Amino acid sequence: MSIPQETLDQIQERVDIVEVISVHLPLKRAGRNFRASCPFHHEKTPSFMVSPEKQIFHCFGCGEGGDVFRFLMKMERIEFLDAVRSLAEKVGIPLPKRGDASTERASESVRLYEANALAQSYYRECLLGKEGEEARRYFSNRGLEAKTIEVFQLGYAPSSPNAFLTRASSKGFSEQVLLRAGLILKGEDGRLRDRFRHRLMFPIGNVKGRVLGFGGRILDQGEPKYLNSPETEIYSKGRELYGLSLSGKWIREKEMAIVVEGYMDLITLFQAGVQPVVSTLGTSFTREQARLLKRHTHDVVVVFDPDQAGEAASLRGLDLLLEEDLSVRVVTLPGVDPDDFVRKKGSAACWKEIDGAKPLIPYRLDRLASKISLKTPEGKAKACQEILPSIAKIGNAVLRSEYIRELGERLSLKQEDLLSELKKVKEPSWGKEKEIPGKNIQTPPPPAEVMLLQLLLVDEKWIPFVWERLETDELSDGRTQKILSTLYERSKKGEKTGVARLARELREIMGGGFFSEFIGDSLDLLDKEKALTDCVLKIKATQKIQRLDQLEDEIRQAERSKEEGRLKALMEEFLAVKRGVVLTQKTKERT
Ligand code: CTP
Ligand code: MN
Repeated sequence: MSIPQETLDQIQERVDIVEVISVHLPLKRAGRNFRASCPFHHEKTPSFMVSPEKQIFHCFGCGEGGDVFRFLMKMERIEFLDAVRSLAEKVGIPLPKRGDASTERASESVRLYEANALAQSYYRECLLGKEGEEARRYFSNRGLEAKTIEVFQLGYAPSSPNAFLTRASSKGFSEQVLLRAGLILKGEDGRLRDRFRHRLMFPIGNVKGRVLGFGGRILDQGEPKYLNSPETEIYSKGRELYGLSLSGKWIREKEMAIVVEGYMDLITLFQAGVQPVVSTLGTSFTREQARLLKRHTHDVVVVFDPDQAGEAASLRGLDLLLEEDLSVRVVTLPGVDPDDFVRKKGSAACWKEIDGAKPLIPYRLDRLASKISLKTPEGKAKACQEILPSIAKIGNAVLRSEYIRELGERLSLKQEDLLSELKKVKEPSWGKEKEIPGKNIQTPPPPAEVMLLQLLLVDEKWIPFVWERLETDELSDGRTQKILSTLYERSKKGEKTGVARLARELREIMGGGFFSEFIGDSLDLLDKEKALTDCVLKIKATQKIQRLDQLEDEIRQAERSKEEGRLKALMEEFLAVKRGVVLTQKTKERT
């Protein structure tokens, strides 16, 4: 089935790309455009731009770009038709009926979404009906208000063996679809029956709030306490965070996310007014979940249960968040779990604990210190062994050396010793941006360098301003260096031609014309001086980080060859660079 162009146009007219994208990413205004960290590649500086006027997006880092359909396809990993369908539904534009075989295939996952949506409304109906009395009492005993039950669309699966199966069949769902959705299963006797019976139902939604699966809690004591949807075509436990569709906007507003472990913890916190909260549903963080969170904030507070078995291991699991460049703080609520805490002590007390959360590395040091002495050589060695691998995961060199300094102080060890130990556990990918998979064109230069050149090409009168502040060799990319030095020379000679050629060259480096069309007219709205200064600072900061990494390498070499004088000089330079002292010409020459 193909959808007529007019229909596509109609949909695009009614949908706002900014609104659609901001469901997934925290967009910040940047002049006439919006900006965020790109969800499609690993990056530290936001280079993902959205133009409300052109209704397109583009990432200057990885080159991904296009219209709102393209965004949804990439973001939700769905087919074009599903992206169109979902947006059409959102704005109430009817699409040609499906039934055609190719559409049927393309929208197979749609059927699973529909089955889950039916299940949700069915379980709700049961909760509110006669059979739901015990469940309603349970929720009310645990302090849930009617409004909360509504907001989280909680429900109840009745006890009869195939009540849902019967309902779904009457609505035209095949057994096959229901099996694939994990809503029914085949019993040992070979008969089909409902997966969830006599359980409290917690629908698990994706960012958009579309139901993907369920968690079902037993009403009384018994095993298993929770029964969850299995992994299906549309649901994978490690890819979702419970509550995010509701808490996303709070997370963006408060610029922080609180992470708890359970369904009830999340719901009670949210109800009490601690809204920027998500739940990992009792499992340890996955990289996908970390990235999911990172689209909304860079600040994460993990609420941790101190009595938990294998605490050290769970804490180590949080390294994943460090690798994703999230700032991680940890807090243990005195007493029991967040659910109990907030009901007994209230939300103000809860916020107080959260505000007092400690950064992960110092937190772990404290925990260690409470168990072993950090004064003995053995204790120190143990602490290094525990903590250094985590510090090594931190991508940000400044943070890394800050923690090294702190660790040095706590253990009364020399920083250089720690640095060389750190080197031994260092990640191979350190200091480098991760590879963009499936990308065959050359890696584009850092966005700040491209942005700088674009600004200069659009408006040459700013060249002297930059010339006073930035040397060409401070750029990290040979290609952008060449363009910048040509610009400097031309400006010195007062030449006026050749801009088009340079712009074309830059566009070719970026592997497509799309980007410069996009930025050409949007940049004249930015505060030029601020934008240029930002680029220059960014470029210098990147250089500084690279220099710190380089120095660490050299320090290690000097240690091996036992050149003490050189080692001392290198350490001094390391600390100077770290403190932001600009490199002198002399230190530049020595390298
Ligand atoms: N969990 C699960 N299966 C289990 C036990 C736990 O999937 N058999 C997950 C659930 O997502 C649960 C989370 O782990 O919410 C935390 O488990 P737990 O602390 O035991 O449950 P609570 O969330 O505290 O639930 P309640 O307060 O209702 O006992
Ligand atoms: Mn609990």
